[in-house]
Amino acid sequence: MILLTGATGATGRRVLDRLLLRGHRVRCLVRNPARLGTRRVDVQLALWNLTDTRLPGGALRGVETVIHLAGPLGDQPIGHLEELNVTASWRLADAAAAAGVGHFVHVSALGAGEAAGCRFLRAKGTGERVVRGAGTTGGMAVSVVAPSLVLARGQRWASWAQALSLLPIAPVPVRGTPGRSRPVAARDLADALLAVTEGARPPVETPARHEIAGPQEYGVRELLPALQEVVGRPRRTVSLPVPVLRAAVAALERPGAADREALAVLGCDTAGRHGTRDLEALGIHPGGLVESLAG
Ligand SMILES: NC(=O)c1ccc[n+]([C@@H]2O[C@H](COP(=O)([O-])OP(=O)(O)OC[C@H]3O[C@@H](n4cnc5c(N)ncnc54)[C@H](OP(=O)(O)O)[C@@H]3O)[C@@H](O)[C@H]2O)c1
Repeated sequence: MILLTGATGATGRRVLDRLLLRGHRVRCLVRNPARLGTRRVDVQLALWNLTDTRLPGGALRGVETVIHLAGPLGDQPIGHLEELNVTASWRLADAAAAAGVGHFVHVSALGAGEAAGCRFLRAKGTGERVVRGAGTTGGMAVSVVAPSLVLARGQRWASWAQALSLLPIAPVPVRGTPGRSRPVAARDLADALLAVTEGARPPVETPARHEIAGPQEYGVRELLPALQEVVGRPRRTVSLPVPVLRAAVAALERPGAADREALAVLGCDTAGRHGTRDLEALGIHPGGLVESLAG
């Protein structure tokens, strides 16, 4: 049995499809089962939120592997991103080790570290540390899978690129030094997670870390124009009254707090050090922006 969190997300949906195709039995921890669509009849379900202090009863019964994908890029009304990425990961990994789970596959981020320039990457850095600690103390193998920016059709980066292409404003509303990234397709990340889940477990005392990076490296100022090339500019522009246009520009310049954190990731370095080496070692030849946004 595999326990999966984040099954309703861009990567999670693809991971779930692959696990089911391969004949795995899957239990999903979700906050909104309706978002699983028709897949909800093919899995065991338990209602759960990252801020819950306890797992639903029996959530870890018979589980050999946990794939922990839920990890928001920004704050939510119910908790700060640190609680959602660090405390929640520690609780789940600790409970998994105590229940005798053999392998914890933890999704972090490239560039994660306690000295990183944005809160999301600092939280992911601490998250990795506490999950590795829970594994070593509890005798559970841990594999960290760390992607650069994740892309899929409809994913937020592409939507922002499309929205920004409509407006005559600077394309990148982030503070600090422009970062570099190697965007990777959600489907390549899902293939990597399947390969790590089905592959040999690392020794308990030496957790594995896989860098999941796409084939092209971009500076932040090149990335949004490149995305705009792929998602396409609208054929017709709409004429809007000036006050409406001004309000739209203001909304983009002052995104909500959660979006501001997610945008800040664009200004950090998530390119990693090894290019596509780790993906290729898992047997995956990653696609570029066009393939990522195709599906
Ligand atoms: N997106 C990126 O560019 C990027 C970059 C680096 C690392 N990552 C990491 O990669 C992983 C997958 O990213 P993604 O972009 O595929 O994710 P996503 O599409 O944003 O999906 C997030 C998933 O987490 C669930 N979730 C969010 N808040 C939750 C909460 N409070 N309680 C329970 N579940 C909650 C969501 O459930 P709902 O459907 O109910 O919202 C959804 O299933 C995450 O760990 C993320 O941190 C992503």
